[in-house]
This record gives sequence, structure tokens and C-alpha cells, in this order.
Amino acid sequence: MATYKAPRGTHDIYGKMALGLEKLDSISRQIFKKHNFKEVITPIFEEASLFTRSIGEATDIVEKEMYVFEDRKGRKLALRPEGTASLVRAYIEHRFDMTEPIGKFFYSGEMFRYERPQAGRYRQFSQMGAEYLANPNPNADAEIILVAKEILSALNIKDIKIHLNSLGCAGCRAEFRKKLVDYFSSVSDLCEDCKRRLEKNPLRLLDCKIDSSKFQNVPSMKECLCGECSDHFSQVQTLLKSVGCDYIVDDKLVRGLDYYTRTVFEVRSSSVGSQDALCAGGRYDNLVKELGGQQIPSVGFALGCERVLMACEQNGFFETVKTDDVVFIAVADEDLFPQAFTFANELMLNNNNIRKNIELSENITIEGPFLNKSLKSQFKLADKLGAKKTVVFGRNEFNNGKIIIKDMTVQEQKEISLPDFIMERIKNLDTSGFKMSAYAEK
Ligand code: HAM
Repeated sequence: MATYKAPRGTHDIYGKMALGLEKLDSISRQIFKKHNFKEVITPIFEEASLFTRSIGEATDIVEKEMYVFEDRKGRKLALRPEGTASLVRAYIEHRFDMTEPIGKFFYSGEMFRYERPQAGRYRQFSQMGAEYLANPNPNADAEIILVAKEILSALNIKDIKIHLNSLGCAGCRAEFRKKLVDYFSSVSDLCEDCKRRLEKNPLRLLDCKIDSSKFQNVPSMKECLCGECSDHFSQVQTLLKSVGCDYIVDDKLVRGLDYYTRTVFEVRSSSVGSQDALCAGGRYDNLVKELGGQQIPSVGFALGCERVLMACEQNGFFETVKTDDVVFIAVADEDLFPQAFTFANELMLNNNNIRKNIELSENITIEGPFLNKSLKSQFKLADKLGAKKTVVFGRNEFNNGKIIIKDMTVQEQKEISLPDFIMERIKNLDTSGFKMSAYAEK
């Protein structure tokens, strides 16, 4: 039994999940860059009030889930629960509106929420997110949704559904809010959370896990959209249709953060269990101003890397993730260890001359040589590592300027001449300070 375990709600990422995360990261970056999004790396903690103001006082995140702490000078800080507020803070602080002709940014990193852990829901999790600032038009909403879809498609996740809704502007929401308060006031035995939220944030009642089954014929946001918001929503849909992107209009979709205006969306997968939102986002036309900047309408999304990786696993993506070929460097005669070590180092330095000479592919993982192992155990280890080729340094061959290359897949070996320049380098190595006997295999 291990003395220490990762804290509840956190997890170590290793093995194929770590490879998958690397792949997700590189695919997302390629797609973000193709769409002209520029990376911004923000701190993992910020002033707590940045999140309280942006996400909203009456949201679960702010009420129950933030990791808030005081530093030694008594500043109230919080581990970031999401990336949008930090990105907007950086946008205002560095006047990106003056320096960036297009306000497209992306970020990746760990987020922290004190939630009840379950599959797909963690207290520390990673997001990759994109924010498109300073574009009020529906093409920005459509592009954001398409970027999210493109990433998931590139990862071979097929079973996705895009849920789409519009929350309108402040005017539309005031009317909707009134209708909701009237409606919910007539529902008996609301849960404690809903009773409290009815006053502060009645929209949140719509996705209450406890009470939602009691709600029949709930007023719909659609009925409250003003002309402009309604036009914006139908233009987003026209653009999505024009590129063949399927979606479901879902008027129950309200999202758990208060900054949204107009378009909101979630991309869900049926393969990952109850936490099925792989990615989510929407428009936030007033947030930049609320945080002290200009009126800069914006839209964005973030995908949850762990959930996306769960979907990847279900959709067979990991089987397609290739690792580089392993080349194992072995020594048959221990006194050739420094020569083999030097050779391995040359290979590491990406010496294409050597690679071509011994027919190695461009991307390889190099392992060895080892000091305290017999040739037999070196071959065993090479096998365990799945090595494609093993390079063997043996005295007789080396004296003739050669090494042995064993092709491990067909168990055939051949001798090849080392290129002159490397032979020059290693044949006269002064190995007098190297005492092999100290490392004999026990
Ligand atoms: P969010 O819906 O809170 O939105 O999170 C986005 C995604 O992060 C979720 O769809 C989910 O995949 C993942 N996620 C959230 N919480 C957890 C958790 N506890 N464990 C594992 N994964 C989780 C936002 O964060 C907004 N900032 C998105 C956005 C960007 N809106 C506009 N721009």
C-alpha cells in the first residue's frame, strides 16, 4: 500500500493517457493555429474577485467550488476554475485590442473546481480553450463551434451531438427571468438550492439535477428573444447549415456560468457516461466591459481534455496513436561501453548521416547502452521495450570498423561499417579512467 495517494479528485496521467494528451494537445494547436488563434499562457491563480465577478456570485462554481486562499500578504487568490476570465483579464491588461488586429486566442492548462468527483468530473482537470474577442457577428460564433467540432473529428470521436441555444441579451433575459420566476413560484417542494436561486438566478433552476423532472411546460427562452437576438441566432444556424454542421436546438441549455449572452452550446458524447459534455462555450458580449475594458463582444469555448480522452478511448483512437521506433544500443564487450555511449549520443543528436547509414527512420527513441547487464539480458530488455533494431558493439566487429545491426522484427542481423567520421571519433577514445569491473552484473 502506498503511503501517499493523489488527492481526491486528482489523478496521475501516464501511459497511453499521457500519449493521448500529447496528441490532443498537438492536434488542437495545429487547428487553432490554422484558424489564426494565438496562444496566451495565464497564471494558474488569479485574484479571487476576477472569477466572482465574471462567472457570477450565484453560480455553483463561485458558491461552492473555488479553491480560494490567502497568500502571506493577505491577498485573496483563487486557483483558476476556468480560462475565459483570465484570458479576458490579460486582454484588457495588455491592451490586445490595440496590438492584435484580430482578437483570436487559445490557451491550455489545468483548472480547479471543488466538485464531487466521479468519472469525467475531477477537482483538477485540463482544458484547451479558444476565445474570439471583438467580433460581434454570427460568423465568429459559427467558427468557434466549427473549431471545436474539427478538433473532436480529428480525434476520430464520431458520436457527438452539438446542443445549441441562445440566451439573448440583457433585455431578453429580464423578460425570461420574469416568466421563470412566475412559473417556478407555482412549483411546490423545490430543493433548497432552487429555492435560494429563485431569487438570485432563476435560469439556474432549468438545469437543476434534482428538480428538473418536476418541471413541465417551462417557459422557453425562444419566446423572449428580441428581434436582433433572434436574427443573430438564426444567422449562426444558417452558417452552420451552410457547412453541413448538424446541431440540435436545445432550449433547456443554460450553462453554469453567468457571463453568457446570445449563443451557448455544448458538444456531448454518448460514450462517456453522465458527464457527457466534452466541450462547451458561448458568446459573452459584456464580459470585457464588466472586467474594466471596452464593450468588446466575444465568443469562445473550452474542451475538457480528460473527457475528450475518455471519448477517444471509446472510439478506438488510442489504437491509432503511433509511438516512435525504439533502437536499443547493446554492448557485447563491456570495454566498448564508452564507444557505444558516444555512438548513442551521436544518434541522439539526430545525426542523419549515421541514421541513413544504419537504415533508421527519422523519428526514433534511443535506449542504452547499459553497464551492468549481460548481452542476454540486454536483448531481453530490448524485446520488452519492443525495440525494432538493436545495435551491438562487439570487439571483433569493432576492430574491423563495424557494428552489428539486429532487426528484431525478423530476428536477422548484419554487420555494417561505421562511417569514417564516427570511427575516427571513437576508435581512439581514452577509456583508461573507466573501470568496468565496478559494474559487473550481480
Ligand atoms: P465549462 O462548461 O465550465 O465552460 O467547462 C468546459 C468543459 O470543461 C466542460 O464541457 C467539460 O468537458 C470540462 N470540465 C468542466 N468541469 C470539469 C470537471 N470538474 N472535471 C473534468 N472536466 C470538466 C467553461 O469553462 C467556459 N470557460 C467555456 C468557455 C470558453 N466559454 C466561453 N469561452
